[in-house]
Order: sequence, then C-alpha cells, then structure tokens
Amino acid sequence: MAIKPVLRMGNTLLLQRAKEITEFNTPQLNMLIQDMHDTMQAEDGAGLAAPQIGASLRLVIFGIDENPRYPEAPVISNTILINPIITPLDDVMEEAWEGCLSLPGLRGLVPRYKHIKYSGFDVRGEPFEIEASDFHARVVQHECDHLDGILYPQRIKDLKQFAYTEELIQQ
Ligand code: NI
Repeated sequence: MAIKPVLRMGNTLLLQRAKEITEFNTPQLNMLIQDMHDTMQAEDGAGLAAPQIGASLRLVIFGIDENPRYPEAPVISNTILINPIITPLDDVMEEAWEGCLSLPGLRGLVPRYKHIKYSGFDVRGEPFEIEASDFHARVVQHECDHLDGILYPQRIKDLKQFAYTEELIQQ
C-alpha cells in the first residue's frame, strides 16, 4: 500500500500505448491496483490510469462517492477495468469541463461521446460489459485515453477553453 507520485504531462510514459495485461489476480497486479486506489484517494481523483503512476499497462480505476472536486457529479461505483474496449452507442457528443491529476490546476472543455458501452476484465480476469452515459461515460473515455497515450488537451476543440481552475472560479 502506497501513495505514488502522479506523472505529469511531459513525461513520455504518458504518451505511450500501454500494454495488455495477460496475467490476472497476481500479487504484482493486486499491489499495483492497491497503489492506484491509495493514490487516487489521496489526490481526490475520480479516476486513475496505471501509466499515471508509471506502470504502462491497460488498467484503469474510477469511482465517485461525494467527491469535493466534482460536487455535482453522480455517484459511480468503484470499478477496476482491465484491457478495456469502448464502443460509442451513437454519434452524440457533449462538451464538458475536465481535469486530470497529470495536469494539476488546469481544466479544459472536452467533447466526449454521451452514450457508450465499455467492456473489459475485472481483477480476477472475468469479462464484463457496462453501458454508461454522461459523466460516467466521460470518466471512462478520459481514463481509457491514457492507455493510448492521449491526454485531454489533445481533444480540446478551442484552446481558449483551456484554463487554470483558479481563474475560472473567479469569473
Ligand atoms: Ni487523467
């Protein structure tokens, strides 16, 4: 159990395609997941991808219950998602403000699919599939982007909508 430093934008590990996980329920994998949980909790994040703490593997975690960083966000149950695949359920996109623990203090207006289906494996290697919309769908798309080396600024349509949170709050 450990809180790990979160890599920040500029670290080349955040730009790589992470590798598939092939062995489930190993001590190493379970320790990595525990470290991710500890780190996400310490940083008040809604989600975290393994590459953000230096493990270039296709693993993300997310979940929200009453998060002060996202006061209007709905509750999302704690999920461990391994080797994920996202399928948009239609073409509807929606823009909303996003932040990322790898870009502390910043927010950007990012378009995402509003309705998705995502599938993958749990910690024991059991496959599962979930439909999600709105904020839940957004979090999954944001976290899974990390596994392909994509950070949210790459998806911002208008870079005028990329700002320091403190400045946005003052307006
Ligand atoms: Ni992020």
